[in-house]
Amino acid sequence: MEVSKIAVIGAGTMGHGIAEICAISGFEVSLNDVAENILNSAIEKIKWSLEKLYEKKQIKEEPSQVLARIKTSTSLDEVLKDADFMIEAAIEDLNVKRDIFKKADMLAPSQAILASNTSSLPITEIAESTQRKSKVIGTHFFNPPVLMKLVEIVRGKYTDDATLNVSIQLCKKLEKEIVVVNKDIPGFVVNRILARVVDTACMLVYNGVADVEDVDAVLRYRLNFPMGVFEVADYSGLDVFYFIHGIMTSRGFKARLCPILEEKFKNKEYGVKTGKGFYTYPGPGKYQKPQLEKERATKLDPSIILAHAINEAAYLLREGIATKSDIDKAVMLGLGYPKGIFRFADEFGIDRVVAALEKLSEITGEEIEIDPLLSKMVKENKLGVKTNEGFYRY
Ligand SMILES: NC(=O)c1ccc[n+]([C@@H]2O[C@H](COP(=O)([O-])OP(=O)(O)OC[C@H]3O[C@@H](n4cnc5c(N)ncnc54)[C@H](O)[C@@H]3O)[C@@H](O)[C@H]2O)c1
Repeated sequence: MEVSKIAVIGAGTMGHGIAEICAISGFEVSLNDVAENILNSAIEKIKWSLEKLYEKKQIKEEPSQVLARIKTSTSLDEVLKDADFMIEAAIEDLNVKRDIFKKADMLAPSQAILASNTSSLPITEIAESTQRKSKVIGTHFFNPPVLMKLVEIVRGKYTDDATLNVSIQLCKKLEKEIVVVNKDIPGFVVNRILARVVDTACMLVYNGVADVEDVDAVLRYRLNFPMGVFEVADYSGLDVFYFIHGIMTSRGFKARLCPILEEKFKNKEYGVKTGKGFYTYPGPGKYQKPQLEKERATKLDPSIILAHAINEAAYLLREGIATKSDIDKAVMLGLGYPKGIFRFADEFGIDRVVAALEKLSEITGEEIEIDPLLSKMVKENKLGVKTNEGFYRY
């Protein structure tokens, strides 16, 4: 199926950006939201962004030409009646999404694919509100869609191959890098790995093993992360993390939210947006990169910060949820890691990762199930770089 018209539902943070990249790539776009003023403000933001891109010569067409391909309407019927592909980016609420999909199923042409940009809700349950379950899929863009290269394409229980292929082709035309998530699990790949790193880092602080700055200094100075884990959490909003974590655990992701995060959420210390999170900022919305002394980077073994994320990645790989290269691509493009999570594992040594997981269980008092893939690798002496073979060969 050839896609030429895309309907984007929800014109907020993600929806307006998705509409923009679709129009930049030459698609006809119809953008929908519940009120005219939201649509007008979305168009203003798109215009501003297109002008910046044009100034920097990152787009060839004049902003007005790109904008001419975006129509807006508060009527779902109007935006969906001739759409080939819908990308829903309304609020993260299962009932709202199911309602939109139910209506879209009735309004869009029968061959149209219906995709959701959900971060944490089940694609399968969204699909069940329609009569075209095989044509429902997840297309998880990252914020901001104009700059972030990654899209996780998520297969629900019913998604067929044709739908997957059309979605992959479409995202490629949007010049995105794709990671296919073969099973509709909470948090897909990126948010599961992120949750493990944030939970570990926070539990290390909660249990007095390290300070916030120590953890971030290790990541920044020893592993070359562009930002420490607490910096990222503050930047993206602790409230967002809290909600997504809650949905993921309610759907069976085995994790305990760190008590410090719980407290920060209760105190409305959401990070940069409120002026205080793990770090304190000059004011609400005023970002200033936290100063971290280099000496702090020696206080902690880096492997303990990433061990649980590596364990999670091993689970995703062993279960066939995503391929090795896709998981590594996901952390590099979705989380900005300087190399893939399996590369870090191989460099630390798989035996060291297993020891770190055992130590982490001891520190937190909560047993972490070591993934059978890691245990098998240790048994077979596939320890990573030091034995010339781990997740990769050297
Ligand atoms: N913000 C992020 O960093 C991010 C990243 C990846 C995915 N997501 C996901 O993308 C989706 C949108 O997130 P966001 O951050 O853009 O939210 P947002 O709150 O900025 O925007 C949501 C928009 O949806 C509109 N809306 C609500 N109900 C609607 C309906 N019935 N029909 C049409 N529009 C409706 C709202 O008016 C609002 O403008 C969510 O599912 C979220 O989980 C967000």
